[in-house]
Amino acid sequence: MSRIARLSDVLINKIAAGEVVERPASVVKELVENAIDAGASTVRVELDGGGVDRIIVSDDGHGMGRTDAVACLERHATSKLRELDDLFHIDSMGFRGEAIPAIASVSRFTLHSAAANSEVGTRVSVEGGGPPLVEDAPPRTGTVMTVEDLFFNVPARRKFLRRGDTELKHAEEAVVRLALAYPEVGFFASHEGGTLFSSAACPDDPRERIAAALGSTAHPHLFPVEERRLGVAVTGYAASPEFTFNNARGLYTFVNRRYIRDRGLIGTIQRAYQDFLAAGRQPVVVLHIDVDPRAVDVNVHPQKQEVRFADARGVQEALTAALSRMLRAAPWLGSGVEGAAPQAGQPMDAAHYAHAVERFLTRAQEAAWGGPLPTAMDAPGPGPGAPSLGPLGPGALPFAAAVGQAPAFGQAQPQLNEAPPPGYFGALRPLGMLGGRFHVCEGPGGTLVVMDPHAALERARLTGYLRALESGKPPPAPTLFGTTLELPVAAAKALVEGREALSRLGFDVEPFGGTTVALKTVPPGLEGADARSLLEALARALPPKSATLDTVSLAEAVRVMACHAAKQAGAVPLSDAQFRALLGELDRADFHPTCSHGTVVVLEMPLLELERRAR
Ligand SMILES: Nc1ncnc2c1ncn2[C@@H]1O[C@H](COP(=O)(O)OP(=O)(O)OP(=O)(O)O)[C@@H](O)[C@H]1O
Ligand SMILES: [Mg+2]
Repeated sequence: MSRIARLSDVLINKIAAGEVVERPASVVKELVENAIDAGASTVRVELDGGGVDRIIVSDDGHGMGRTDAVACLERHATSKLRELDDLFHIDSMGFRGEAIPAIASVSRFTLHSAAANSEVGTRVSVEGGGPPLVEDAPPRTGTVMTVEDLFFNVPARRKFLRRGDTELKHAEEAVVRLALAYPEVGFFASHEGGTLFSSAACPDDPRERIAAALGSTAHPHLFPVEERRLGVAVTGYAASPEFTFNNARGLYTFVNRRYIRDRGLIGTIQRAYQDFLAAGRQPVVVLHIDVDPRAVDVNVHPQKQEVRFADARGVQEALTAALSRMLRAAPWLGSGVEGAAPQAGQPMDAAHYAHAVERFLTRAQEAAWGGPLPTAMDAPGPGPGAPSLGPLGPGALPFAAAVGQAPAFGQAQPQLNEAPPPGYFGALRPLGMLGGRFHVCEGPGGTLVVMDPHAALERARLTGYLRALESGKPPPAPTLFGTTLELPVAAAKALVEGREALSRLGFDVEPFGGTTVALKTVPPGLEGADARSLLEALARALPPKSATLDTVSLAEAVRVMACHAAKQAGAVPLSDAQFRALLGELDRADFHPTCSHGTVVVLEMPLLELERRAR
C-alpha cells in the first residue's frame, strides 16, 4: 500500500484556515477587504457573541453572478491575480483566493450576492467546508456574507478563543484599521445591535475618521504630514505631542493601504517623537506609506501584516523627514500665523531674543522699582515647593505691581487661581529663558508672559493626581520601586497608620520592623523622587486616623506628591519639547481654587505697559 495520499480539499482548506483564520477578527478583516476590493462605498459589519456566534458583512460593491458566487468557494479561486507577474504589483487587498474557502471550512457560511442589474440573486451555503448548497435568492446590490459558529468543527481552535470581550475588541480593531485605511468608504459596525463604530465616508477630511477611531478629542490635535520622494510617499496625520497615549495603540501605519505593524516602522516613528514626549507616552499617528507595488513584498506574512521593502532605508528616511518637519514646525503652538512658532532647529534665535527680553524686562522693572531688583528667587516661597514667582502680595515685587494694574490671569491679587481662557497656554509662543530659570513667552495680544516652570509642573501634576483620586480609581499602574527606609518614630507611625490613605494615592507602604518601612510602589511621576523626603513630607501631610478619606482630607498629601513630582521633573531645565508638552498639560489642568497651592504659574505683562515703564 502506498504511504502517500493526497489530502482532501476539505482538509487542505482547514489547514489553510489555520493560517488565515485565527479568530473572529481575521474573518472580519478578510470579508471587509473583499467588500473594499469589490468597490463598496459602504460596509456594514454586524457581530453577535463577540463574532464567534455570528459575523455578517454586507457591502454595496459590484456583487457576484452565479458562477463567481460558487467559484469563490474554491481554493485558489480569485479574480484578482492571473499571472505570477501580477504578484509583484498587487493593488487589491486580496490576491490569494484563499480566504473564503478557508472561512467556509471552519464555520457555517452563507453568501448572498447578485451581479449588477441581474434579476435573480444567488445564495450559497456551506457547512464546515462541505458541499455547497446553491439556491436562487432575491436580487440585491452587492454581497452579504454570513459566518456562524466559527470553529464549530475545530474544537481545538475554538478552545483557544478568548473569553469576555477580547474577541470583540480584536474584531472592532480589525474594522478600525480598515476604516482608517479607507476614509472614502463608510463603515458601520455593531455588536448585538449596539453600535461599535460608525463613520460615514469622509474623503475630504480624514481627521473625522481618525477621530471616530481614536476619540473625538483627537481632531484638533491632528496635523497633516507629507513627504514625497522618488519611489515613496508618506502622507497622513500625526498628533501633536499634546495628544498621546500611554501605549502604542495609536500608531497606525499603512503600506499601499494595507495595515502593517512593522517593528522597524514603529521604531522610526517613536524615534522621531522621542524628544517631544514625556517618558512613557506614545505618539498617535495615522500614516500612509505608498511605494511602487514592485518595491514592496506583501506576501511575507499569512495575515499580510509585515512587509519587505526593496529600499527600507529610503522609506525610513522619508518617514522621519515627514514627522520631523511637522514636529519642528510645532503647528499646535501657532496662533494661526504661518511660521509664527519658533523652529526648534534655531535655538540661537530664541536665545538671542530671550536675552534681549531679559535686558528689556530688567530695565522695565528697575524703572518701576527705582533701583536694583531683588531677584524673584528671594521672594518668600509659599509652601513646600521651590521658590516661585509668588506669592505676590501687593508691592512684593515691582513686576507684580506692574502686572497688578493690568488684570491678568494667574496673578496673585486678586485673581489668583483664576482659570485661564481655554487654549491660553497652547497659544503662548516660547521665546526663551530668563535668569536660567523662568520661561518667557509672547502671550495673547502682545503680552509678555513669564512662567515659573516649577509652579507650572506642580499645577499640572496636582491636577493629574486629584483627578485620579476623584475618579475613585487608583492611579494607573503604580510603578515598582521597592526600597526600605529607617524613619523617625513619628513618621514611621504616621505612615503605617495611614496605609489606607496612602494606597488610595497609589503608594504601597508596609511596616518592616522597628521604625523601618518598605515602600513598594509609588504613583506615576514619582518613580525617581527622593523617597526619604517624600515619605517624611507625606507623614506630616496625611489626615488623622479618624478622618474620612476624601479629596479634602487628602488634599495636603496630594500637594506633597505634586510638589515632589514637579521637583523631579524640573530638576534639569526643561527642553523646548518638554516645555511645549507642559503648555499642553496646563491647558488641561485645573485652576480651580480648591486645588490652589498658592503658587503663581505665570505673570503677564502687556507690552504697552512695558514700553511705558522702560522709557
Ligand atoms: N464581497 C465581495 N463582492 C464581490 N466579490 C467578492 C466578494 N468577496 C469575494 N469576492 C470574490 O471572491 C473571490 C475569492 O475571495 P477570497 O477572499 O477567497 O480571495 P481573494 O480576495 O481573491 O484573495 P485572499 O485570499 O488574499 O483574500 C475574490 O477574488 C472575488 O472575486
Ligand atoms: Mg479576500
